Amino acid sequence: MANLTKPTQLIGQSSYFANMLEQISLLAPLNKPVLVIGERGTGKELVAERLHYLSSRWHAPLIKLNCAAINDNLLESELFGHEIGSFSGASKKHIGRFARAENGSLFLDELANTSNLVQEKLLRVVEYGEYETVGGQKTLNSDVRLIAATNEDLPQLVEQKRFRADLLDRLAFDVVTIPPLRYRQEDILLLAEHFAIRMATELNLEYFAGFTDEAKETLLSYQWPGNVRELKNVIERSLYRQTDLAEALDNVIFDPFDSPFRPVKPSQITEKSTPTQINDLNSFNQAYNWPIDFAQLSAKHEIDMIKAALKQSKFNQKQAAQLLNVSYHQLRGYLKKYKLLDSLKHD
Ligand SMILES: Nc1ncnc2c1ncn2[C@@H]1O[C@H](COP(=O)(O)OP(=O)(O)OP(=O)(O)O)[C@@H](O)[C@H]1O
Ligand SMILES: [Mg+2]
Repeated sequence: MANLTKPTQLIGQSSYFANMLEQISLLAPLNKPVLVIGERGTGKELVAERLHYLSSRWHAPLIKLNCAAINDNLLESELFGHEIGSFSGASKKHIGRFARAENGSLFLDELANTSNLVQEKLLRVVEYGEYETVGGQKTLNSDVRLIAATNEDLPQLVEQKRFRADLLDRLAFDVVTIPPLRYRQEDILLLAEHFAIRMATELNLEYFAGFTDEAKETLLSYQWPGNVRELKNVIERSLYRQTDLAEALDNVIFDPFDSPFRPVKPSQITEKSTPTQINDLNSFNQAYNWPIDFAQLSAKHEIDMIKAALKQSKFNQKQAAQLLNVSYHQLRGYLKKYKLLDSLKHD
């Protein structure tokens, strides 16, 4: 069966990313299982697609299954299929994913979430290409390439006896580890522009007017814990909320929950006090020894406030300036004075 869905393009030109693409090109044609490891949102599914479409199996199906989405019993019958009456509720014969992926590839997402029993059965298919359906008597043969993904550290899970060492040995012929976006600075603006142009088309705009320098700097200095998926969401959100779409995009909106009306727990509704405030002489004397270094302590206090405002604004410098009640240019001045721009990138 020809598979006509076009794989999504993998975008990036940083050296870590280029090395990974190179490894994928070498690995794809080999008829061996592959393990894809990466933080959430790094593109594990896209990497799996690329491995499949660059292999000789490209014309056969690529079947996907998220192992964390269903419970153990169902997972077994989802993978291997079941016969009529093999368990209560099994009123029809069910074709498993291995059978559907015959001659093609099977992408097992979140593999770390599988039970010992499922892992044992997977081991047998990987090793001998054999399995039985749930409730079935016959041993079936399978010609399927397994591509498994996880964001967990499998060797560590093996040490903790939460993952079978023998299965990991068979699967880990080679491992593709996707570098997190924060290690791929060169890719951030490239991806941002790509997502913005696509979103502009969706919004029926004639063109995307680009990002302001400040917006670019904000995007570059953020850590992207949710990686490419987070970047995509941030760009799409920032663009559709932009008021003047003919202007370059300036306001980067990281947090969709950010609102003065965000619900709070009743216990949080209290007058806010400044934790570092010391307003009587006794507590001051407990905290400091005279003579104090006035300049250094003042600078430290300024740095603390700036860092707090940057964190609060998710490194959006414009918003941080508003939180501190200074102009954007004043904030930039402080960031340069205290050399904070560089250090914040690696916090
Ligand atoms: N290099 C890239 N170029 C273009 N789009 C990308 C790239 N990497 C990821 N994406 C996009 O980012 C989103 C997340 O990718 P994907 O679903 O493959 O991540 P994942 O690693 O499987 O995440 P999770 O662990 O949360 O399931 C998708 O919309 C995908 O198209
Ligand atoms: Mg995924």
